[in-house]
Amino acid sequence: MRVQVLIKEEQGHKTTRREIVLNIAIIGAGYVGLVTGVCLADIGHKVTCVDVDKQKVLKLKKGIVPIYEIGLEDLLKKNIKNKRITFTTSIKEATKSSTVIFIAVGTPSKKNGDADLTYVENVARQIALNMDSYKLIVEKSTVPAETGKRVARTISLNLPKKHKKDGKEKLDFDVASNPEFLREGSAIEDFMNPDRVVIGVESKRAEEILREVYKPLDPHMVVTDINSAEIIKHASNSFLATKISFINAISQICIHIGADVLKVAEGMGYDKRIGKKFLNAGIGFGGSCFPKDVDAFIRLSEKSGYDFSLLKEVRNVNENQKASFVKLIEDKLWIVKNKVIGVLGLAFKPDTDDMRNAPSIDIIEALQAEGAKIKAYDPVSMDNSKNIFKNIVYCEDPYALAKGCDCLLVLTEWDEFKDLNFKRLKTAMRQPIIFDGRNLYHNKDLESYGFEYFGVGRGVL
Ligand code: NAD
Ligand code: UGA
Repeated sequence: MRVQVLIKEEQGHKTTRREIVLNIAIIGAGYVGLVTGVCLADIGHKVTCVDVDKQKVLKLKKGIVPIYEIGLEDLLKKNIKNKRITFTTSIKEATKSSTVIFIAVGTPSKKNGDADLTYVENVARQIALNMDSYKLIVEKSTVPAETGKRVARTISLNLPKKHKKDGKEKLDFDVASNPEFLREGSAIEDFMNPDRVVIGVESKRAEEILREVYKPLDPHMVVTDINSAEIIKHASNSFLATKISFINAISQICIHIGADVLKVAEGMGYDKRIGKKFLNAGIGFGGSCFPKDVDAFIRLSEKSGYDFSLLKEVRNVNENQKASFVKLIEDKLWIVKNKVIGVLGLAFKPDTDDMRNAPSIDIIEALQAEGAKIKAYDPVSMDNSKNIFKNIVYCEDPYALAKGCDCLLVLTEWDEFKDLNFKRLKTAMRQPIIFDGRNLYHNKDLESYGFEYFGVGRGVL
């Protein structure tokens, strides 16, 4: 794709309109980078995806997707075939062949909650070392405010001498922020139909290029400065996490008063100002983003001189939600030691194999510490779980799981768990007790099969 943009001439300082080829590089081919790369290829761009993981790149070149994401493998194969997407381990190669470079590497939590930006810095440096013409470097990874400035500084500091004159860059570049809002499990649908595309830019040229990149999607664009774009991402994830913790706090009141949190959420959600989404009470939010982004936002606030105590409480409520679920199990099982507990669902949410920060991990560890024997079944995340738990018996389906169990726990609300043969499950179990951490079932339904049923914030216990 060719576009007309403002480019500063390398000789002198005048700016003229020039045509550039809008080739795109994505550095980091994980959940976000791969989905972004495949989707941008599918809407017509030429994309090069880079990853340091050689095995991953080998698989991707063959059209094999290393993660579970609905529809991604078909779209990948289609775009490899029509030569719109390629894969490499070389940032050098990708930098040279592209004008727009998205950074989509991980930004995990440090022990103190700060975002660890080591990978981002490393990529910025490597881009600088390999630049030989104008580049737009775009932060796609979730990063704290002011990272854009630091990325720009890193690039300036690392540009080879040949691109500098009297200490100043001769080579022109822009840095922009373009946070991603896709969810795992519906990533392609979210990317292709975004509620909004946020771009944080400091030049008209960067804005023009990013508008061109997203033009085929015809999205609602929010154009702002880089710091605001970075804050929009942290604020959005933190707000959604707050909504979940709010309904989880309500669930605690419902348990003690004797009310049904599902009905409370329904009654609240019809108010358009509140909305129905993200009001599902349960065992709390997990995943690779909400916990780390809430922590990073708390740290950023601290550094800016503001104590974000509201968010600290969001985090506390989330931790308490898992702890109170474990307490409920301990109370109702009476003796946990040597009890066989069957876990239905391990992933942090349905439709993904992602186990990063899954609530199941804390819950299983707490029960194992009490001497429980854990069996588990998950439709897609058992391979990932095997890297975390070796001391679990993995089962091939819910019925093999139920065999000999003293209780079942629903920790992920997979669709296939909705219509189980409860008669068969009950017959296989030693004791018919279900702890439903995702409020997937109706108590009356399960009680009619002879189960003792415990949801989260559902009526009198
Ligand atoms: P991920 O761990 O799945 O992928 C990161 C990839 O970057 C890995 O494949 C890794 O090998 C690669 N990488 C690391 N260093 C590299 C380097 N120097 N050069 C090339 N590749 C390198 O992470 P993710 O879930 O895709 O998240 C990436 C970023 O996007 C994070 O900041 C995250 O917060 C944000 N984000 C994630 C989601 C999501 O749903 N997972 C959604 C929105 C935003
Ligand atoms: C979340 C955001 O929804 C995305 O917009 C964002 O791009 C992404 O984080 C990110 O920055 O990485 P994701 O983590 O894939 O996406 O999944 P969600 O559907 O948001 O669920 C997160 C967690 O909250 C899950 O553990 C889920 O079970 C839990 N949750 C969600 C609830 O407990 N209750 C709800 O009502 C909704």
